[in-house]
Amino acid sequence: MRPMLVLGIETSCDETAAAVVADASDIRSSIVATQFDVHARYGGIVPELACRRHTENILPVVRAALSEGGATLEEIDLIAVTRGPGLIGALLVGLSCAKALAYASSTPCVGVNHLEGHLVAPILEGADYHYPLVALVVSGGHTELYRVDRPGRIELLGQTLDDAAGEAFDKVAKLLGLSFPGGPIIDRLSEEGDPEAVAFPRALMDRDTLDFSFSGVKTAVKYFVDDHSIAPAPFGVEGPPREEDLTAEVSQALKDVAASFQAAVVDVLVSKTLAAVRQVGTRELVVAGGVACNRELRARLEAAAAAESLNLHIPSPALCTDNAAMIAAAGALRVRREGWPPDGFLEMDAVANLPLAKALEVMEEAG
Ligand code: KG4
Ligand code: ZN
Repeated sequence: MRPMLVLGIETSCDETAAAVVADASDIRSSIVATQFDVHARYGGIVPELACRRHTENILPVVRAALSEGGATLEEIDLIAVTRGPGLIGALLVGLSCAKALAYASSTPCVGVNHLEGHLVAPILEGADYHYPLVALVVSGGHTELYRVDRPGRIELLGQTLDDAAGEAFDKVAKLLGLSFPGGPIIDRLSEEGDPEAVAFPRALMDRDTLDFSFSGVKTAVKYFVDDHSIAPAPFGVEGPPREEDLTAEVSQALKDVAASFQAAVVDVLVSKTLAAVRQVGTRELVVAGGVACNRELRARLEAAAAAESLNLHIPSPALCTDNAAMIAAAGALRVRREGWPPDGFLEMDAVANLPLAKALEVMEEAG
């Protein structure tokens, strides 16, 4: 039987992405146009600039995904597009593009929750989920723990009360004079720093909750570098520094702060995630989102999984950060589960704060 070819489109934040995926398992192409150059000088994402760049990039990126994927638009069976959560203007660029392509080519189109995409990313690498499972989605915009009883039945167990973990990495990198996005840079610098140099706070660790809080550790880093007159690195506005510059021009004191900050965040993420696993009474754990690229987090989770006989599903780094292959896979799995989407995609709306648990329950009731 001919595989189902899905075109995925993702523009929820600062990556313009398109992918062609066959049968939710075979990535034929996955194109991601990043915007680091646009946002680095501001130390964070500027929504209007993100939207303008999406508008410029979306058609070239879709065209590249189709040609690299060896498919024409007419051969695509389904278009899957992120409809939330995310920056509303950014979402609208991808959604409008998907609607236009679907309308012009009479192809069915399905809206996907971005977090559902992160959740299914490991399936693209052959993961086989057993339910119930616990999922940690940890990215620049999200830090959430979910219980998934089966596809479509999802419960929110805990979430950040303030900053997302990736946001904390990015803000701390900014105040340390490291560039944007900060996660990969702090990850790299931490290899040369002492994670026990500074005992930064681990919020809500002693409380019986699966919620997180990361704004306190960020403030503690700021006070620490001010109090100890630690000079920031010189990489604020130029975009990610070259590897040689990073290791040569960053002081040992700053590397120790970076490593100690990372240790505090990773400690909390690992401990709450394992608490969720125990609470649900499962051995299945999915960890996804940009921060799941972090090497210390991966190593700690892998060690815990080995010690406690957990099946840990964590995508390779390219599938942790935002991409459209995961959106295509989520769309394909939804169609397999619920049947082909009815027409009516032209009325589909983008929703900035689309919740994962509710979105899927509503779909389930509707189905
Ligand atoms: O999933 P993602 O690409 O976009 C969102 O949906 O937010 O995640 C981006 C986030 C950024 O905050 C970035 O700093 C963080 O993931 N990140 C990392 C690492 N790589 C990316 N954080 C820590 N360590 C990393 N290696
Ligand atoms: Zn994401």
